[in-house]
Amino acid sequence: MKLQGKVALITGAGSGIGRATATLFAHEGARVALVGRTASKLQETAKAAQDAFCFAADLSRRAEAQRAVDECARHFGGLDIVVNNAGISRQRMLLEMDEPLWDELVAHNIKNPFWVVQAAVPWLARRGGGVIINITSSLGLKPSPGFGAYAMTKAAQQILTLSVALEHAKDGIRANAISPAVVDTPIHETYLTPDGARHRKEEMARFYPLGRVGTAEEVAQAALYLASDDARWITGTTLLMDGGRLVK
Ligand SMILES: NC(=O)c1ccc[n+]([C@@H]2O[C@H](COP(=O)([O-])OP(=O)(O)OC[C@H]3O[C@@H](n4cnc5c(N)ncnc54)[C@H](OP(=O)(O)O)[C@@H]3O)[C@@H](O)[C@H]2O)c1
Repeated sequence: MKLQGKVALITGAGSGIGRATATLFAHEGARVALVGRTASKLQETAKAAQDAFCFAADLSRRAEAQRAVDECARHFGGLDIVVNNAGISRQRMLLEMDEPLWDELVAHNIKNPFWVVQAAVPWLARRGGGVIINITSSLGLKPSPGFGAYAMTKAAQQILTLSVALEHAKDGIRANAISPAVVDTPIHETYLTPDGARHRKEEMARFYPLGRVGTAEEVAQAALYLASDDARWITGTTLLMDGGRLVK
């Protein structure tokens, strides 16, 4: 088991990539702290993990993020791994982006992982080191029409990753990002075609040289690698997971 004895905090653990990551990490021996806005969704994830601790919080609010990280770390007596996965997707052409929608993206995709990093780094440093994994997006490397504003927030999360890697290597902390293209999760249900119809994952498959969109379990496997000691010399990098989408 690759994470035996480790404590891992996973944000957005109530669904999609977060749920798959929490389940895999628990299977690999980690004690998992599950954080997200909806308690019932966290409880559902917890059923598949032994010894899970759930804490409902809106991580876009600094005080709530601090409380969530502190409560999780205190519950388990420390913290080794943080997966900054919680986030939202909003689709809108640049000139149609209004202030409330932009503020929502900034709150959930930039403030949220930033507050979690600020709260978590001292706990990781206290253990002599740890790992932070940010789930960003391939759109943060190359945007698509309608996703410019979302992509900007994910690019910001990329820079957060590099900054943590630079400033906290001295504390033994590694920070890396995973940048997936479309993954089959509830967030994907929000993607629309230019004429407003729902994007079906079967139709999107043609954009991918490997012939399909990704799965949450595949992203979880990548997170497991980066969280484990197998990746002990890897920091400040981005793992693009996109079925070949960007080279097409
Ligand atoms: N699926 C894709 O195609 C894809 C591609 C690239 C990147 N990503 C990124 O992957 C991450 C996970 O997405 P997913 O596809 O697994 O979507 P998802 O199933 O919608 O999961 C996102 C989770 O984040 C939580 N969340 C959002 N804002 C939060 C906040 N302020 N505080 C606490 N929890 C919050 C949600 O909790 P509640 O529901 O309880 O609010 C939800 O459980 C996101 O950062 C997303 O941008 C996804």
